[in-house]
Parts: sequence; C-alpha cells; structure tokens
Amino acid sequence: MQQGIFISFEGIDGAGKSSHIQAVADAFRLQGKAVVQTREPGGTALAEKLRDMVLHDAMDPLCEALLVFAARRDHLQQVIEPALARGDVVLCDRFTDATFAYQGGGRGFDLRVLTQLEQWVQALPGGGLRQPGLTLWFELDPAVAAHRLAQARVPDRFESQPQTFFNKVHLAYAARAHADAKRFARIEADASMDAVRQAVLNALRERGLLSAEPT
Ligand code: TMP
Repeated sequence: MQQGIFISFEGIDGAGKSSHIQAVADAFRLQGKAVVQTREPGGTALAEKLRDMVLHDAMDPLCEALLVFAARRDHLQQVIEPALARGDVVLCDRFTDATFAYQGGGRGFDLRVLTQLEQWVQALPGGGLRQPGLTLWFELDPAVAAHRLAQARVPDRFESQPQTFFNKVHLAYAARAHADAKRFARIEADASMDAVRQAVLNALRERGLLSAEPT
C-alpha cells in the first residue's frame, strides 16, 4: 500500500516552530506532493473543541491527558491515516511528544499512563504504533522562550506557566529525543528566521525527504 510521509513539529512555546511549517509545505508542493497541514490538539471539528477546553478550562493533569489523546484519536482516524494512505505529506504542529513533554514533564504526570494511552490511541491494525517518520524539534533555551512569549499574544493555560514549567517541558523533550534519536532532528531555534528555515530544509534533504536543489 502507498504510504505518505508524516512529520511533526515540536518545541516549547515561543520556539517559533509554527512559522516554519508553511516553508516546509511550500517545498514539498514544489516537488509535486500533496500536503496536509494540521495541528494538535486539533485538526478536526471535534478535536478543535477539545483543544479549546484544554487550552482554556481548568482541569487536572489526567483530564488534560485524556482530552489530548481523545483529540489525537479523532485526528488520526479522520485526517492523518486517510492522508498517509493516499500518499500525502502530513505536517503536524505537535503530536504525542508534546503530551510527554507538557503533561509528563511539565505537569509531572505518570509516564506509564501516557505510554498506555499512546499504545491504545496510536495502535496500527497490523501491529505497531503510528509515530511520525520525522520529528523536527525546535530547541530553544526556556529563558529565551519566556522573553519571546512575554512580548507576544494573550497567554493560554500553558503559555502563562512560569519558566520552571518550561524547563521541565524542555528536559522531557530532550529525553524523548534521546530515546528515539533516529526519529528526531534537533533544530537550533535561537537563530535568525532564515537560518532556522535553512536548517529545517537541510534536515529534510539529509533524510532524502526533499531533493537536494536549493529552495
Ligand atoms: P500550540 O500553541 O503550539 O498550538 O500548542 C498548544 C498548546 O497545547 C501548547 O502550549 C502545548 C499544549 N499541548 C499539550 O499540553 N499537550 C499535547 O499533547 C499537545 C499536542 C499540546
């Protein structure tokens, strides 16, 4: 069966990942690929409703974890799996690494429960787990991210957390990257927009996902 390419974009709030998704989409489209740009939590009508709750309503870490995985289940079934089956490129602004980083690292929630939920929600019919083929991890010092966020939009429940929260989120991302080094590409995010964009495109070229022509 034809299989597409699944790429996730990760990093702490303020790392600037979302600005680069469009450049990646443009590069794939230039090479004739169909691209689906999506995000988590979100990406379907149901998952966007759950996103709104997770970002704005008070709840405990277990509720948070259950809601992000419920949103992910719907997103996988309605959007991601059909797109991959068509052979499309799926660019997803955050995926399960964010749950391990924010609910696991930031909130200190039980990683074994998250692992169990991951197994249920991402199970593939023939066995194994749905994971991105590549995760671009935009790594930024939490102190720099905090400075960027202070000058930006009205904060949601996560963006309003103190820097100590983001230190823990950052460490949890580093642990996920260490545990699955082949899947992760670390992008140095404390650089100019253009330098970060080039680093992202290079990471895709090095893995043979984009052809070598300059973009
Ligand atoms: P965004 O602002 O990058 O779209 O992400 C929304 C927020 O949701 C961000 O602060 C991280 C948080 N989040 C979680 O806490 N758990 C998750 O599983 C996901 C996907 C996002």
